[in-house]
Amino acid sequence: MLQTCIFPAAGYGTRFLPATKTLPKEMLPILNKPLIHYGVDEALEAGMDNMGFVTGRGKRALEDYFDISYELEHQISGTKKEYLLNDIRSLIDRCTFTFTRQNQMKGLGDAILKSKPLVGDEAFGVILADDLCVNEEGFNVMSQMVKIYEKYRCTIVAVMEVPKDQVSNYGIVTGNNVEDNLVMVNSMIEKPDINEAPSNLAIIGRYILTPDIFGILENTKAGKNGEIQLTDALLTQALSGMVLAYKFQGKRFDCGSVDGFVEATNFFYKKSLC
Ligand code: G1P
Repeated sequence: MLQTCIFPAAGYGTRFLPATKTLPKEMLPILNKPLIHYGVDEALEAGMDNMGFVTGRGKRALEDYFDISYELEHQISGTKKEYLLNDIRSLIDRCTFTFTRQNQMKGLGDAILKSKPLVGDEAFGVILADDLCVNEEGFNVMSQMVKIYEKYRCTIVAVMEVPKDQVSNYGIVTGNNVEDNLVMVNSMIEKPDINEAPSNLAIIGRYILTPDIFGILENTKAGKNGEIQLTDALLTQALSGMVLAYKFQGKRFDCGSVDGFVEATNFFYKKSLC
């Protein structure tokens, strides 16, 4: 039912400099697969096959990754390494990939607004590929959220509890329980100081957004760090309608940080040995 997933991918990835000077952070690999590939796999598994990317200068590698490399295909064809391309070939066959650019770094809210022409008037998923999520026991995180969307038909954000001293890295939400693991949001703040954080329930990079978010974003003024914050637009949406925060099942790695990246690498390496 939800067809489109948007991947904001214009950020500089400064925590990974100098590697990200020329390499998009979304192309950093966990084992042999770039982060963005894991994100697209997750969206496809959740039933979405229209992948939209909001990129920026220096991100051409993303477009090339989701296209056929004839030279490479020719070189590898008939050799015993050919199977290494199976995964990416299958993604290319099964999905449509569309790209647009965010030409100024004006925040996640602005990036989502730029994706409007790729989305149309439908609800859509959003995956921040540097938040790598896994759930070994059942549905992946986006699939879990699609199930909730099917029931409530409103915007849903994925959340997890974080240690109090980390709240200033996240959008933080509070609200009232609707069901187990599901909170109706009544307050939301982007990257608060420890002492002004209303809770330790942090948004992680998975969203399902209803299309009225675009109109709200058009009228959202710059917030934290002078950027147009998706969190501010979501608060407006929560106060005028309904936004649910979902405590997802599974594990999340912050692959935008070196520690999280190494943790994810170790996790997937151990998994590959089983
Ligand atoms: C963005 C959002 C923030 C959210 C975070 C999750 O921040 O603005 O609300 O908690 O992603 O990773 P960023 O990490 O891009 O600064």
